Amino acid sequence: MANDITLFSDDLTSGNITSTPISVLLNDAFSKQATLTDESATLSAGAQFAKYVVSHQLKTGLVVYLHGDLGAGKTTFTRGFIQGLGFSGKVKSPTYTLVEPYVFSRYNIYHFDLYRFADEDEWEASGFREYFNPQSICLIEWPEKAGDLLPEPDIHVYLIHDELQRKIQFLVNPKSNNHSVHSSQAQRFNLIEFKLE
Ligand SMILES: Nc1ncnc2c1ncn2[C@@H]1O[C@H](COP(=O)(O)OP(=O)(O)OP(=O)(O)O)[C@@H](O)[C@H]1O
Ligand SMILES: [Mg+2]
Repeated sequence: MANDITLFSDDLTSGNITSTPISVLLNDAFSKQATLTDESATLSAGAQFAKYVVSHQLKTGLVVYLHGDLGAGKTTFTRGFIQGLGFSGKVKSPTYTLVEPYVFSRYNIYHFDLYRFADEDEWEASGFREYFNPQSICLIEWPEKAGDLLPEPDIHVYLIHDELQRKIQFLVNPKSNNHSVHSSQAQRFNLIEFKLE
């Protein structure tokens, strides 16, 4: 299920793309915000980011913080990410469960929503620490609610309300210890907006 890996260059020739690149991101001093015109664009951005992560071998122990206020599109982006890797089931918001796991053949994805996280003891009791391992990709909404308990992220994703639309921005954490994230090949991420049919 997780083996549908396509590089962006392949995507560009596959006929899936109906509009032009809108932004080049990741660790770029001139990093731009891309506009996501509607929900399908947010889903698409998540799916493209997932393919980027997998095609650049960034997935080993990857930690992604999702920033943005209530309703900014963090869950929508994550849904696009998980479904973009071939998961065809429902991707529910982990608002009450705090985390939802997705088991793929070569890695696991853990989608956290820590908005309701209140108790640091719960962190140890729940075994969340073990979710951060070399076979996992952790995407975390409301990371700031866990204080210092969370590991450093490799990549920050910012979702920003812009009237009825959203904007998105990606930044590599200079303190990330994921070497692949820092490789020059991995620095360019072409986010291409397209409508899902
Ligand atoms: N680019 C977009 N333009 C307009 N609406 C969008 C866009 N992306 C997502 N939405 C809509 O915004 C709403 C909230 O999205 P979502 O649940 O993903 O937000 P969230 O950041 O996870 O919120 P929370 O902090 O409450 O978990 C949904 O109805 C979704 O369809
Ligand atoms: Mg959410």
